[in-house]
Amino acid sequence: MSNLHNKRIVLIVSGGIAAYKALELVRRLRDDGAMVRVVMTQAATQFVGELSFQALSGEPVHRDLLDANAEAAMGHIELARWADAVVVAPATADFMARLRYGLADDLATTLCLASAVPLLLAPAMNQQMWQNQATQENASTLAARGILSIGPDSGLQACGEIGPGRMAEPAAITTALSQLFATASMAGRRVMVTAGPTREAIDPVRYLSNRSSGKMGYAIAQAAVEAGAAVTLISGPVALHPPAGVRTTDVESADQMFKAVTSGIDEIDIFIACAAVADYCIEAPSAQKRKKNDESLSLTLTPTRDILRSVTTRPSPPFAVGFAAETENLVLNARAKLEAKSLDMIAANEVGGPGLGFESNENELHVLWNGGEQRLAKAPKDLIARQLISLIAECYRRGHDDIH
Ligand code: C5P
Repeated sequence: MSNLHNKRIVLIVSGGIAAYKALELVRRLRDDGAMVRVVMTQAATQFVGELSFQALSGEPVHRDLLDANAEAAMGHIELARWADAVVVAPATADFMARLRYGLADDLATTLCLASAVPLLLAPAMNQQMWQNQATQENASTLAARGILSIGPDSGLQACGEIGPGRMAEPAAITTALSQLFATASMAGRRVMVTAGPTREAIDPVRYLSNRSSGKMGYAIAQAAVEAGAAVTLISGPVALHPPAGVRTTDVESADQMFKAVTSGIDEIDIFIACAAVADYCIEAPSAQKRKKNDESLSLTLTPTRDILRSVTTRPSPPFAVGFAAETENLVLNARAKLEAKSLDMIAANEVGGPGLGFESNENELHVLWNGGEQRLAKAPKDLIARQLISLIAECYRRGHDDIH
């Protein structure tokens, strides 16, 4: 049964061209068993008719703050109390600005102020408006207040421009909402996560490494704990605090990470390899600091062991999830890696673009498994991590139900 079954969702539709996609969102939420009440801003009614939302939600649409009938039957406070979650889709630049400043000059903004339940925004606007410093500041302030957001996606826009600003797909918004109600989907599971970069020593003071910050792996460890799992985190050197409730082992090199994983893996149900493990290490690191001279210097590199592959080739491997950071042909390369490494699931992300992947606070993943795939729209890493954990939990459960 979907997490959204019998959940009460208030959907606020603000005035943008993406408002038409909110109709599909209502349908999906209802298909998943949610009860939906729609609030439209004045501008939204210029884009899509109130009647369409009424027909799909099976409820009257709420529009006016001071509607005598609505106030009698279900005023803004009552509507706020009724909701288990509030989603704003599309959330326009104007709506986000008004939310940031706590305005309460219409039903939609008043309701957001009066509500204490999770609030999820799906921003949608022209790409220049999204990238404008004012909107970015509004988005960061809202995020810092704990308001969740999903998207926007990048691509061709209704205005003919190309860039970030398309509303996340209704399916992705439904998954993100459903995730908010996930309860202990990993209760009793033992999960191991690798995170961060590794450092391969050149001499006692120098090393080879990469740009991984560890944020994604730490968010995954945190999300797994929240989902009820017992979590072991094997972490390369990062500047993050270990998540509460997680048993963390710090390592430096790929070899140390391999040993730490190998020593605990027999006890593990689900292994998530999020670390950016160095592919090569220095064949003969120098015991003393190398002195410089005017000659060119060659270092001989030898391949490190593939930790993930060593896990999946064990006699009875845990459910194994890999990551694939790709700069091109994302899905094709990820699917090939899923098979080559005998994985149960792979999470692929495009790296090299601005604001995503390594070092960033946000990510966008394309998750593939045998017989399925799902795109997790651009969102803060903690929200992406929670969605990934519920996908893993579902896939793991399905695999085990098939066997028993
Ligand atoms: O082959 P590639 O390095 O792109 O595979 C990435 C996946 O394999 C990631 O999940 C990463 O954590 C894992 N990996 C590993 N040990 C290595 C190299 C990669 O566990 N030596």
